Amino acid sequence: MKKTVFVCQQCGYKSPKWLGRCPDCGGWNTFVEETKQGNSQRQRDSERLIPSPITEIASFEFSRLKTDMAELDRVLGGGIVPGSVILIGGPPGIGKSTLALQTLHQLAKQDIRVIYVSGEESSSQIKMRAKRLGIENANLLVLTANEIEGIINTIISSNVRAAVIDSIQTMFTEGLSSAPGSVSQVREVTNLLVRLAKKGEIALFIIGHVTKEGAIAGPRMLEHMVDTVLYFEGEKGHPFRILRAVKNRFGSTNEVGIFEMQERGLVAIKNPSEIFLSERPQNVPGSVVVPVLEGTRPLLVELQALVSPSFLAMPRRTCLGIDPYRLNLLVAILEKRLGLNLGGQDIFLNVAGGIKIDEPAADLGIVVSIASSFFNKVVPGEWIFLGEVGLTGEVRAVMQIEQRLIEAEKLGFKRCLLPQTNLKRLKKSYLQAFGVNSVEKAFEIVFS
Ligand code: TYD
Ligand code: MG
Repeated sequence: MKKTVFVCQQCGYKSPKWLGRCPDCGGWNTFVEETKQGNSQRQRDSERLIPSPITEIASFEFSRLKTDMAELDRVLGGGIVPGSVILIGGPPGIGKSTLALQTLHQLAKQDIRVIYVSGEESSSQIKMRAKRLGIENANLLVLTANEIEGIINTIISSNVRAAVIDSIQTMFTEGLSSAPGSVSQVREVTNLLVRLAKKGEIALFIIGHVTKEGAIAGPRMLEHMVDTVLYFEGEKGHPFRILRAVKNRFGSTNEVGIFEMQERGLVAIKNPSEIFLSERPQNVPGSVVVPVLEGTRPLLVELQALVSPSFLAMPRRTCLGIDPYRLNLLVAILEKRLGLNLGGQDIFLNVAGGIKIDEPAADLGIVVSIASSFFNKVVPGEWIFLGEVGLTGEVRAVMQIEQRLIEAEKLGFKRCLLPQTNLKRLKKSYLQAFGVNSVEKAFEIVFS
């Protein structure tokens, strides 16, 4: 008799019977019946295994493949390691296929044979995209297929050193009866691909779609199986894209690469701060610049606040690029500790350029920007702001302050408001720095 099991398509939880709600992740209607795989009795190796002292293990430098896309190489930790499996996740339409195709082209130009396997688009669609990107190279092979065993055989026989699988959710193995994209298919297909990469020393890029909640469709377990996980993100309607390493067995996870989607593909941005500030309006209340960190890189971004009288019983608090909870908290501090009467005001806050800020170092910039719009007073363009704001209105120290100040100095900013504690610890002086320990003090300096 065939044994079946019900598997939650969100988290991989298994149950012998169908359930309406997953007890593990709480998802509704997520169970799908799948054929149980027999636990093949593995042969036990009776040989004794011998560990080696760590001092006697030869260290080994990977010979990485360079892509000539400096942003990508950096995120990967200095290039692509042969035999590694790299997962590229991101929402539909963000540019994953474009990034993958451009990466393969960079390798093909160095006389490296590569293959692009698509389960989503036809060869002619891929050709059209390639044309748009100016890709014309016989080292780049294209295959459209969905059945993984056939794909793996083709990859082995075509003697390539790098391959792209676009996307994991469209691939299936004959061995399982469930639909492509289901947990068991994704797991099994990834298993086979990882084995292929390790055995054949092939650098493998796997593209995965991300669900609305931000997880790679098909569950998290995919992330455990691969060596490197990159997320490609960006705001809809903005040309900027951020490539972020969230896991990397061959490098740091602090790196990000910034790209712009142009007419002819993705272009790496070397000086992002300049671009993010290029459209900054002059002498407008509510506009403030803060140096934030994206990975290890300082980035100057513009915050814009608009505070205007509300006609609603519940005034609006709307923000783009920062956590709404953070905005509410800072507004409450402004009301309670600084006596700003924001109760009857709609407040809109926007981070220009589609960047997301998730560090408290931008707090001081946010409150200054809101106050600037509320008082209708311009903050001179030469200022930058740094500091975490606590519930009593105190200004707290932030991390890696020097890097941020150096970047601001490079871009010609003249004055900086920063936490007193940070100022005292600075080894060298940057800009014209003012140390403050409360928001009140900060407002005195900026708005007097
Ligand atoms: P795509 O790589 O197909 O996204 P994904 O694989 O993540 O779904 O790219 C999608 C968008 O990028 C598409 O809306 C068109 C745009 N695009 C450009 O603006 N310029 C280009 O050169 C290319 C190839 C795409
Ligand atoms: Mg695609």
